[in-house]
Amino acid sequence: MKEYKNVNILDHPLIRHKLAIIRDVNTNTKQFREIVEELAMLMAYESFKDVPTQEIEVQTPLEKTKQTIVKENSIAIVPILRAGLGMVNGILSLFPAAKVGHIGLYRDEETLIPHEYYCKLPVGIEEKVVMVVDPMLATGGSASDAITMIKKRGCKKIKLMSIIASPEGVKKVAEDHPDIEIFIATLDRRLNEHGYILPGLGDAGDRIFGTK
Ligand code: PRP
Ligand code: URA
Repeated sequence: MKEYKNVNILDHPLIRHKLAIIRDVNTNTKQFREIVEELAMLMAYESFKDVPTQEIEVQTPLEKTKQTIVKENSIAIVPILRAGLGMVNGILSLFPAAKVGHIGLYRDEETLIPHEYYCKLPVGIEEKVVMVVDPMLATGGSASDAITMIKKRGCKKIKLMSIIASPEGVKKVAEDHPDIEIFIATLDRRLNEHGYILPGLGDAGDRIFGTK
């Protein structure tokens, strides 16, 4: 979105291909889950381009060389329950040492206002790059509240990764939190009268966990 310079749409043929599959109403729970995980992994590759690094010395079979690795203890992933859980393993497959916090929020179906029911964040999170993950950025209320909770813990470097976003959700988070970077795979058309993204993919939590 041109008007928000901290919003990145991670457009790639492979990402589009996987989006087409998870949008399909006939995609089953197993396949849905696997693809959400794969999308999170692909998006993590791109959105952690500026991950903190450190230099180490490596002995090759021939000589010693200075090499760059991902800085130890530098990353935390915070899924918004429930649906954000579906993205965690995809990111951990690239950053296996990342710490994981959890924020539980559910949207009131009538008011669409998020309600907090759980928050457990890793010790020392304020020193880390924090990636908040939730596949759906609809009104943006859940993501914005989660980011506020993390900021209250003293975190300075926060990113948000959502697979599908609405223009309303992007606007809300970009305006509430102009200091964070937002990564999305696609920007959909709009929200419907029930706060669902169009065309979207339906209820991400239900499709990941097979609850409907
Ligand atoms: C969904 C989704 C997001 C939220 C997005 O969660 O996973 O967390 O809605 O909507 P918003 O941008 O309008 O806040 P939901 O509240 O349905 O809970 P669930 O993940 O437990 O199903
Ligand atoms: N939450 C979802 O799971 N899907 C939407 O389209 C909106 C909110």
